[in-house]
Amino acid sequence: MSKNKGLFRVSVASLALMALTAWGLPQAAEAAEAKIGCAFSMTGGAAAYGATQKNGASLAMEQINAAAGAGGLKLKLLFEDDASTPQQGINVFQKFINADKVSMIIGPTLSNTAQVADRIAQQSKTPVLAISNTAQGITEIGDYIFRDSLTEGVVIPNTIKAIKAKLGIKKVALLYGNDDAFTKAGYQAFKAALAESGIQILSELSFAKGDRDFSPQLTQIKGMAPDAIICSALVEEASGIVSQARQLGIAQNVPIVGGNGFNSPALIKNAGAAAEGVIVGAAWNASSPLPVNKKFVEDYTKKFGTPPDQFAAQAFAGVHIAYQAIKKAGDPNNRAAIREALTQIKDLDTVLGPFYFTPGRDAGSQPVVQVVKDGKFVIFGM
Ligand code: ALA
Repeated sequence: MSKNKGLFRVSVASLALMALTAWGLPQAAEAAEAKIGCAFSMTGGAAAYGATQKNGASLAMEQINAAAGAGGLKLKLLFEDDASTPQQGINVFQKFINADKVSMIIGPTLSNTAQVADRIAQQSKTPVLAISNTAQGITEIGDYIFRDSLTEGVVIPNTIKAIKAKLGIKKVALLYGNDDAFTKAGYQAFKAALAESGIQILSELSFAKGDRDFSPQLTQIKGMAPDAIICSALVEEASGIVSQARQLGIAQNVPIVGGNGFNSPALIKNAGAAAEGVIVGAAWNASSPLPVNKKFVEDYTKKFGTPPDQFAAQAFAGVHIAYQAIKKAGDPNNRAAIREALTQIKDLDTVLGPFYFTPGRDAGSQPVVQVVKDGKFVIFGM
C-alpha cells in the first residue's frame, strides 16, 4: 500500500517536472501570496509602539511586493489590534490561525500578551516572530516561537556597564512595574546587572499598570539621593515617572535609566524637556550607518513624515525575515517548513545588522546604549 503511494507520488512529481519544462513556471507559483497575521497594540497602553510597528511592517510589505515583480511571491499583511491585553491577543491569534489560515504571525506587541497568546500558536504549530517582546522566557514557550527583538537580559547589562564606566554611578534607586511580564523581567535583569557591576541598590520600589501618580515613590527616592534612578516601565508609566521626577525637583544630573519600554519617541513627546538625559538601551539606533538602514530611515521618513523608532525598525526587519523564510520554505501553507526555514536564516542584511537566530530562537544582533539629547535618541556609547 505505502509502496504504491510512493510510486504515485513519484509519478505526480515527474508530471509536474514535465509541465514545468514544457510550460515554464506553473501559474499557481506565479500567483503565490503569503498571508502574515500582524497582532499589534493599536489601542491601550502600548498603542504608541503598535502605531510605528504597523508603519514599519507596511513599508516592508510595499517594498517587498514591488521588488517581487509579476512572478514573485507576494505578501499580504493582515493587521489586528491586540488592544494591549492578553485576552484580545488570544482572540486575534485564534482568528489568524483558524479563520485566516496565515503562514505565520508577527507580534503581539507586549510580552505580557505573548506569554499567553504564543502558547496557542505553539499548540497549533504556527510560527510566531516577535518583534518587540523583550521579557525572558518568550521563546522558551516552544520551537515555533522566534524573535528579532533583543531581550532585557542582553540589553540591560550593556546599559549598566555604560553608566558605570561613563558616569561613575555607584548607588541607585530601582523602580519597576510589578504586574507585567516585561517590566518584571526588566527589573530582574537590572537587579542582576547592578549586582554584577557592584552598584548599590538603595531601595526597590514598585508601581502598577495604569498608575498616574508616582510622587510617593519619587519623594522617597529623592530623600535617598541616588546617583541614578533605574526604571523598568512601559511608555505610559515611564512618561509619568520621568515628568514627575523633574517636577519634584530630582535634578537633571540624576539620570533616569530605562529598559526597552522607554525606547519610544512617545516618551520624549509626553515628558518634553524632562526626558532630556534619559538613558535607554536598545537593539537599534537611527544613526546606524548600514546602507540598508540609511535607506529605511529615508523611505520611512518620506512616507510617514516622522523618522522611524526601534519598534518600526524591528517590524520592518521582521517582515523581511518572515518573507525570506516563507520564500525558502517554498509553500506559504507549509508552516513546519517555514519554521525550519526561520532557523536557517543567516547573515540576512537587515536594518538591525546581519541577522540570525540564536539556537534558542532569539535575536543574534548587538545592543546599543542611547541618551535623549535635544529631543532625540542618540548614541551614548561606552
Ligand atoms: N518590550 C516590551 C515588551 O516586551 C514592549 O512587552
